[in-house]
Amino acid sequence: MKTIRTEIPEEAAAFIRSGDVVAFPTETVYGLGANALDASAVIKIFKAKGRPSDNPLIVHIARTEQISELAKDVPDSASKLIERFFPGPLTVVLKKKDSVPDVVTGGLDTVGIRMPLHETAARFLEACGVPVAAPSANRSGKPSPTTWQAVLSDLDGLIPCILIGDPVEIGIESTVVDCTQETPVLLRTGAVTFEQIRSVVPEALLAGSNDKILARSPGTKYRHYAPSGQVQIVATFELAIPGPNHAYIGLDAPQQVDQFGLVQLCDSVEHYAYRLYDFFRACDAAGIHVIYCQDVEPVGLGRALHDRLNRASSR
Ligand code: TXA
Ligand code: MG
Repeated sequence: MKTIRTEIPEEAAAFIRSGDVVAFPTETVYGLGANALDASAVIKIFKAKGRPSDNPLIVHIARTEQISELAKDVPDSASKLIERFFPGPLTVVLKKKDSVPDVVTGGLDTVGIRMPLHETAARFLEACGVPVAAPSANRSGKPSPTTWQAVLSDLDGLIPCILIGDPVEIGIESTVVDCTQETPVLLRTGAVTFEQIRSVVPEALLAGSNDKILARSPGTKYRHYAPSGQVQIVATFELAIPGPNHAYIGLDAPQQVDQFGLVQLCDSVEHYAYRLYDFFRACDAAGIHVIYCQDVEPVGLGRALHDRLNRASSR
């Protein structure tokens, strides 16, 4: 299959309307979309990604009115979160309507919904005219793509179209909040911080290692976001060992900085989050064996970054 690149959202949307898949940019990472109401189109996403089919997909919308096509009801907590954070990097999990096929939700009776805050994504979703189910546009187990070049290196020849648009701004995935129970639970940390969620719904909880809560978010059980090199989290920059096959990313410069194969210094937690996945890919391309990542304090956006570092380092 030839993969065409386009900068025209309406041209990419035509693929969605004819039952095919398209990679498209959002403010978080690139997504690989298909018509969420067409099971056979959604199956193509799993094929292209090599993704286990019990892992549910987020459904992307252009307008808040589309929520009622997908969800049975919108509890109070969800209304408040939607009011405050849509459009933006937040996914709310709601009870699904029967019209949402099981392939989208991995057989769950709930659906994750998000409205991106990204000019190109918004135009694309508007032109699709249907809700678009989309996971991150990487091969399963690879870091989420933050550039169209990263999408191409994973999916060239496997998908018919990539929409190239404004670059992603955040570089880390959306926050996922389950609003189907009494107490809203943050299932995946992300670009909207737990502190921000709590400022709107003070009763919200973080999913811990509690099995019942984790079972609600199947994605959390898979190894994720991992480069081929071994990721080692270091509490301080002094613990990173220089070497030509070693890489380093962090806020402080390591010792003997010029003796690493690759180094990324970041001037803020936001910059660190923005660079992380692309750096992992650069390390793979350079044949790096060990990637030292300076740890960050798990507060604010640091909580999501800390989580992604931990996932990438566990095997
Ligand atoms: O920023 C993002 O969220 C990106 C862009 C493309 O929107 N998408 C993304 O999708 O990261 P994906 O498939 O890589 O991650 C979706 C996460 C998984 O952890 C999945 O388990 C969870 O959301 N999820 C989706 N629907 C769910 C549901 N109904 N119940 C619980 N968790 C759900
Ligand atoms: Mg993903």
